[in-house]
Amino acid sequence: MPETASLTLPDGRTIELPVIVGSENEHAIDISRLRGETGYITIDDGFMNTGSCKSEITFIDGEKGVLRYRGYPVEDLAKNCSFVETAQLLIWGELPTPEARRDFSDLLTENSALPEDFRRHFTAFPVHAHPMSIMSAMINALQSYDLPGLIIDDEEEFERVSGALMSKVRTIAAAAYKSSIGEPIMYPRYDLRYVENFLHMMFSKPYRDYVPSAEATAALNLFFLLHADHEQNCSTSTVRMVASGQANMYASVAAGVCALWGRLHGGANQAVMEMLSFIQSSGMSVKDYVAKVKDRAEGIRLMGFGHRVYRAFDPRAVLLKDACDKLLNAMHIDDPRLEIAKQLEEAALSDDYFVSRKLYPNVDFYSGIILTALGIPVEMFTVLFAIGRVPGWIAHWKEIYDVPSTKIYRPRQVYTGSVRREWLNRFQREKGYTDSRGFKVPEELRPTQAPQADAVPPTN
Ligand code: CMC
Repeated sequence: MPETASLTLPDGRTIELPVIVGSENEHAIDISRLRGETGYITIDDGFMNTGSCKSEITFIDGEKGVLRYRGYPVEDLAKNCSFVETAQLLIWGELPTPEARRDFSDLLTENSALPEDFRRHFTAFPVHAHPMSIMSAMINALQSYDLPGLIIDDEEEFERVSGALMSKVRTIAAAAYKSSIGEPIMYPRYDLRYVENFLHMMFSKPYRDYVPSAEATAALNLFFLLHADHEQNCSTSTVRMVASGQANMYASVAAGVCALWGRLHGGANQAVMEMLSFIQSSGMSVKDYVAKVKDRAEGIRLMGFGHRVYRAFDPRAVLLKDACDKLLNAMHIDDPRLEIAKQLEEAALSDDYFVSRKLYPNVDFYSGIILTALGIPVEMFTVLFAIGRVPGWIAHWKEIYDVPSTKIYRPRQVYTGSVRREWLNRFQREKGYTDSRGFKVPEELRPTQAPQADAVPPTN
């Protein structure tokens, strides 16, 4: 017997609503019949309690610090898999066989270069343009170089476009960086794997090859893998929303990049590093900085702390903290900001303000120190988050595309503006004719000397 939940409305009517149970025993009340049968809608600012879809891609249990891609714990994937294999898992639902792995690798390699005339667009941006703005614009521009990719009508075409997008996004990111520092854009190399190829395009020069260490490659691989998906976060929901209107994959992913840019979302990794650098250069103590955050007068947040879903710990932060220590040791780097970060974490985790609100370090807290050690400039941090998130966005785009019953995302609202108003000519709009909210004042309460109305309607 399927479970139902019963909702009693203010007028006494009762409606039975089906309860949906997910594969991890998550319970949700299906309200899809609510408005049709009762006229009521639900409201949930920030979607704190609202499931926007059913999805088979990623599972998070925020209370227990669990994150799984297609059923695999992220810790196991981090230990055993490359980012590219993880991308295949997310997009197609299974870890690839050796043959599928090789084919996809070849596809990425084949598609790594940008069309020759596309490269000139990079010079059109001002030198100090933020690479996220270049990234989103260029992904969108890329679709005009791949007109067949606008319509995906079979699995093979989906694979080609996914591979092209995943591969070219990395080339675009490196090219945006090279343009911003006035260096020649590097071509990808056909003999390098995904992560090494990115580092090559970032740091090689036409006259000198950059050869990353094994530790650097492993750390960046882990960074990308841990960012690859995170179910219905702000940017992924944006991608799904755009895709639900049947926008193509390039346009949907470009929208995801824009959503990711915000400081409360992907932009937090840049904000964390700026915060640590500020504490270091100002000489402010960690204790004073924490007090400033708690004071709330300046609206400062402890960046890299807190998460909508994780209420215990963010498993990605645990893995990145460990990787951060290993990388800095292997590279013999002594970054005082790592020490500041550790002190901040310790101070916050023993302070009731953070403990009572269940605020723990999130994925962005230690990732910036890793990226800094790799030589990645702070403005590129969110771009790297985006490269990592592309497979997740593609997987969600596919999920929308594959489910024929997907409806266009179109939430309702509760309107709180003016009720119907009468049009007033421009003289009647003066004080005395409308009240402070713009509502019309009754005739008997208006000034006695009424100004003349316009004889002719205004033309401008
Ligand atoms: N520092 C200080 N106070 C905080 C913080 C923080 N980082 N995060 C939340 N709070 C407080 C907040 O002021 C509120 O207090 P009160 O209930 O007294 O008003 C309470 O904790 C709940 O905060 P909220 O803003 O209602 O929580 P949310 O779930 O809407 O926001 C968040 C989640 C991630 C936006 C927020 O924790 C935050 O702004 N963190 C800093 C930015 C950050 O690190 N973002 C990266 C998120 S992880 C990467 C990603 O997935 O994008």
